[in-house]
Amino acid sequence: MIQTSPMPRALDTDRVRAQFPALRATRPAPEQPLFLDAPGGTQVPERVVAAMAAYLVESNSNTGGAFELSRRTDALIAEARRYGGAFTGGDPDGVAFGQNMTTLNFNLVRAVGRMMRAGDEILTTALDHDANISPWLLMAEDRGLVVREVGLTPDLDIDLEDLRSKLSDRTRVVAFCLASNAVGTVTPAEEIVALAHDAGALAWGDAVAYAPHRRIDVGALGVDVLLCSPYKFFGPHLGMAWVRPDLARDLPAERVRPAAEVPPGHRFETGTLSHEALAGFVAAVDYLASLGSGDTLASQLDTAYDLIRRHESELAAAFGTRVGELEGVRMVGRSGGDPARVPTFGLVPERATPRQLAEALDDAGIYAWDGNFFAKRVIETLGLDLEEGVLRIGFAHYNVLHETDRLFEALERALK
Ligand SMILES: Cc1ncc(COP(=O)(O)O)c(C=O)c1O
Repeated sequence: MIQTSPMPRALDTDRVRAQFPALRATRPAPEQPLFLDAPGGTQVPERVVAAMAAYLVESNSNTGGAFELSRRTDALIAEARRYGGAFTGGDPDGVAFGQNMTTLNFNLVRAVGRMMRAGDEILTTALDHDANISPWLLMAEDRGLVVREVGLTPDLDIDLEDLRSKLSDRTRVVAFCLASNAVGTVTPAEEIVALAHDAGALAWGDAVAYAPHRRIDVGALGVDVLLCSPYKFFGPHLGMAWVRPDLARDLPAERVRPAAEVPPGHRFETGTLSHEALAGFVAAVDYLASLGSGDTLASQLDTAYDLIRRHESELAAAFGTRVGELEGVRMVGRSGGDPARVPTFGLVPERATPRQLAEALDDAGIYAWDGNFFAKRVIETLGLDLEEGVLRIGFAHYNVLHETDRLFEALERALK
């Protein structure tokens, strides 16, 4: 049920944190874990756990049967598609669920590839996670297509001049990300989509690193395909795509013969879905909506993301200021206070490896990732060792300002 309540001015982080079992203080600091690993997957609120368990206890079944549990499962899938529509700002018919973003993208890319001819061109970017690059490279090999890479600006954004210069009447797809999972850049997605469309190409957006931090609106963006992963935004391990419904209807999706052909997005769902994960996804969107206010799921999400963005900007600005004062480590990409970034930071230590620094943080109960995070081309463009990569500090809206004190104390100790 959608509740209407007045719009709060700031995110109530006590209320937020109380809803996440993993964040509840069960041990005294410093043993209490500090989660700065969000870009690899976020923690989940209680209601996600409860919804998944309830599905398995009360509704566990396959689809299309003549009995109650199966009817509940059919209703859940329809509900998840409706929630997927609200979450992406698009027609629910365009929503397809799958194992994860990568698998969904491989399927979608194969489908669109079957409509291309030798010599057709795809543009990818050096900012993207390889899940929006490798599928294109492999499909290009099969079908004699050309993949061209768009480079980066000095502040690690997609270089629009380079993009313009590489677009041509042979370009069929521009594959890009809305945010970087390695260095936090928020890209000028609307401009990229407009440039792609002007050239007659499809705009194929990876919103995995964007969705936990910013409101998605496929309508406003005009994107043709958009992918994200609910496990990065407080839900269970699951992938989701939104495909423009007419495109989803026309693409030659690979399906088993008896499988139904409607609704359009569903054509990319092969086999039985993780229904319990769909229940968790609905609960995750409900959780996000509960942070906002308004009469509809969409308006609740709009206002919730306003609060999330404001809170995360404060975290990012505070982190950015203090990291500049640290000796022995440098931050890559945009400054902490730059509005065109999400609170994901890539740090390069001078006298240790990112893994050693991550291990030192672990000793202090702080969870942070090191490596390349499959953002292969960003790490290579920075001239860093691909295996070592960077230390990634990734905040979510459930992080609070005082946690940065503990982080900086641990970093100062480790860098001495
Ligand atoms: C930006 C980005 N794109 C794509 C992916 C792949 O997502 P999935 O794990 O759902 O396949 C990730 C995963 O980290 C990511 O960060």
